[in-house]
Amino acid sequence: MTERGRLITLEGGEGAGKSTQIQHLAKALAAAGIDVVTTREPGGTPGAEAIRSLVTEGTADRWSPLTETLLFLAARQDHVERLIEPALADGRWVLCDRFIDSTRVYQGLAGTLGLGVIDQLHHVVFDHITPDLTLLLDLPVDLGLARRNAAGDGNRFEQKVTSFHQAVREGFLELAREEPDRFAVIDAAPAPDSVAATIIDVIRKRLALPSVSRAS
Ligand code: TYD
Repeated sequence: MTERGRLITLEGGEGAGKSTQIQHLAKALAAAGIDVVTTREPGGTPGAEAIRSLVTEGTADRWSPLTETLLFLAARQDHVERLIEPALADGRWVLCDRFIDSTRVYQGLAGTLGLGVIDQLHHVVFDHITPDLTLLLDLPVDLGLARRNAAGDGNRFEQKVTSFHQAVREGFLELAREEPDRFAVIDAAPAPDSVAATIIDVIRKRLALPSVSRAS
């Protein structure tokens, strides 16, 4: 029987560099002979990508908080059912840019719904799937927003006020404190190569993978 793959999620606020780091990590794991799939939320499958444009485009108040959450969950269900679960069952490792913790933070802790509601909804739909490791790319809000503005790629969530982004940062750190075995908090302020090296060290230690090398 094929050994089940691992699910590694990357989380963090705006401009933390998740998409760059996911590429670095995928390369390092592939070089160690691991069959890797990289994906993202909201999105990752055609259906979920269609929902992504509904939820990331338009004005900040386009959706009520609950409707917005249900859209994220609908996208996630399609993604889990059609991409993540089949890949894990095939023994592939899935690297996912944002997952359940983004909803727990953006709609729950920093948003108006609260963590309890989000966790109840997740419990009903996604109880069978938990990341093996969650890399939290943490950096000061000002730095993240400055990086994002320099890249010029805004979305509905970046229109929110700085206090919201601060609550996002604190929310992620709170979740990491609650589940220290699942989360690894990574300082995302240094240069990308240095962050990539830190991530490899964490992967080696947490997932007992001596053959994964730092060289990209
Ligand atoms: P994206 O452009 O992918 O942002 P980033 O590059 O920072 O990941 O847009 C996704 C936005 O959606 C991002 O601002 C976070 C937000 N989001 C939620 O609010 N809830 C969720 O469950 C997910 C997955 C994302």
